[in-house]
Amino acid sequence: MKKLIIINGPNLNLLGKREPGIYGSLSFTEFLEEVKSKYPEVSIDYFQSNIEGELINKLQEVGFSYDGIILNAAAYTHTSVGIGDAIRAIETPVIEVHISNTYSREDFRHFSYISPVAKGVILGFGLQSYELAIQSLL
Ligand code: DQA
Repeated sequence: MKKLIIINGPNLNLLGKREPGIYGSLSFTEFLEEVKSKYPEVSIDYFQSNIEGELINKLQEVGFSYDGIILNAAAYTHTSVGIGDAIRAIETPVIEVHISNTYSREDFRHFSYISPVAKGVILGFGLQSYELAIQSLL
């Protein structure tokens, strides 16, 4: 069985309540239940943290044994050299995802420390971005 993990960064614990015009009104837990039931042949773990170092710890923990990591580093995408370096250091492929199309938003969202070290990038499809990432890893 393939072992994947979705890692969500800061403020993504508020999905469903947070700026629903941009991020939708479904909570991530609801969405995850749906996706897990659609892909029973895959093990999909989930981790969320608002803390940069905890995201790095998790990448290091799973990055030598899992088959794929789906990472939405949220605001840290645009600021974190440390998360970029963690991805360089591990072996498991990382797919960068974003719910919104960051290129249609403020300039500071146009730069990513993750993209140059990700296997691929999927953005702008709402929560479906995560599902497309799962499909790409299967
Ligand atoms: C986001 C886009 C980021 O710019 C933002 O900081 C987020 C969410 C997205 O999924 O669209 O928190 O990663």
